[in-house]
Amino acid sequence: MKPNSIYQSVIEILDLYSFEVKIEIILKRWAVKNRFAGSSDRRKIRDLIFDILRQKKSCEYAGGGSSGRNLLIGYLKLNNVDLKGALDGSPHGPGKLTSIERDFNVDLSDSDFIYKLDIPGWLVPIIKRSTGDDFSEIAKILRTRSVTQLRVNLKKISREKAIVLLLKDKILAELNLLCSSALDILGGAPNIMRSSAYINGFVELQDAGSQLMSQLITTNNNDKILDLCAGAGGKSLAIACNTNVLAHFYAADVNYERMKDIQTRSKRAGVKIRLLDDVSLTAPYDKIIIDAPCSGSGSWRRDPEGKWLLDKDKLSNYMKTQRKLILQGIGLLRDGGHIVYITCSILDIENEKLINDLMISSKSFKIINKKSLIPSLDSDGFFGAVLKKI
Ligand SMILES: C[S@@+](CC[C@H](N)C(=O)[O-])C[C@H]1O[C@@H](n2cnc3c(N)ncnc32)[C@H](O)[C@@H]1O
Repeated sequence: MKPNSIYQSVIEILDLYSFEVKIEIILKRWAVKNRFAGSSDRRKIRDLIFDILRQKKSCEYAGGGSSGRNLLIGYLKLNNVDLKGALDGSPHGPGKLTSIERDFNVDLSDSDFIYKLDIPGWLVPIIKRSTGDDFSEIAKILRTRSVTQLRVNLKKISREKAIVLLLKDKILAELNLLCSSALDILGGAPNIMRSSAYINGFVELQDAGSQLMSQLITTNNNDKILDLCAGAGGKSLAIACNTNVLAHFYAADVNYERMKDIQTRSKRAGVKIRLLDDVSLTAPYDKIIIDAPCSGSGSWRRDPEGKWLLDKDKLSNYMKTQRKLILQGIGLLRDGGHIVYITCSILDIENEKLINDLMISSKSFKIINKKSLIPSLDSDGFFGAVLKKI
């Protein structure tokens, strides 16, 4: 597809989207109806739509409205793309740029203002308080794409050898600077899931920050380790692949269906994780990972819809669940055992503040380690804390 046809498709898809149905579903439906679009066209369309969703408010501001066409025009203006050329009325492309659109001008010179627009207004003071001097940098980075990252299964291969293996499948990778098991993908990301490195369990898709948080846990021989919010098992797989001691891994999730890929993934990685219906039957545990449901504010680059869908009620429900999960975890631990509490949030009220307040009120644990990561070129934003049962 020519660039202008891509633009027209982006406009059509954005006009179909109202946040009630997930954008991935809208994109799939669009692809079924428009079979002429090949996989590389679909990828370009998806990338552009996700770019626009990351910068939705500033695109509305620069484009003078919230229709698909306004959003695209705003995005092109903000990114200094020649508007006349992009909207030249060519076949299958967007209609010609009107004089009103051409003459609509707003001040785009204050970049701090533009960055701030792309954080929901009610969250700006909370994020400012939580991130201090890093606020502007974070607001800026959340508007950009994040790099695809892999976790190397160090049980099977070194990072350097994994880079060579990936190159055979035309995937260009380099060492991630933050995390000793992570690679950044510089090219060929669409080939990852059919590469021999992936199929044979040498690498997995996982953000470097998520891998770093998994490294907060120390494993000892015969430890019983429960991943209480396992989802697809990312954290327990990372821990199991990063240790040489014999530990026993268990996984649970309030939504059992979410764990459906764990067995395939652990088989590929060469580790064992037992799925549980009832976590109390195998208690007490030595270590519990609580990768809690949260605002996701540290990973809004990967899930830009999440940022616009979050509201005060949802945030307060997440915080209630986070407190409940920690107390449940304490009840399932042996005395002296550890919880590793993790969120992909940059909000203090889901992180330090939440655990500090809970520590004071419950008196059932103390904090022995913690780590915060802000969203950056090297990773998403995460918080992790190790809590010791007392
Ligand atoms: C951040 S995701 C976990 C991601 C996963 N650990 C990974 O690394 O791929 C949070 C998970 O917590 C689960 N969850 C939410 N409330 C829960 C609860 N009360 N008990 C257990 N799991 C819960 C959700 O179903 C979701 O899968």
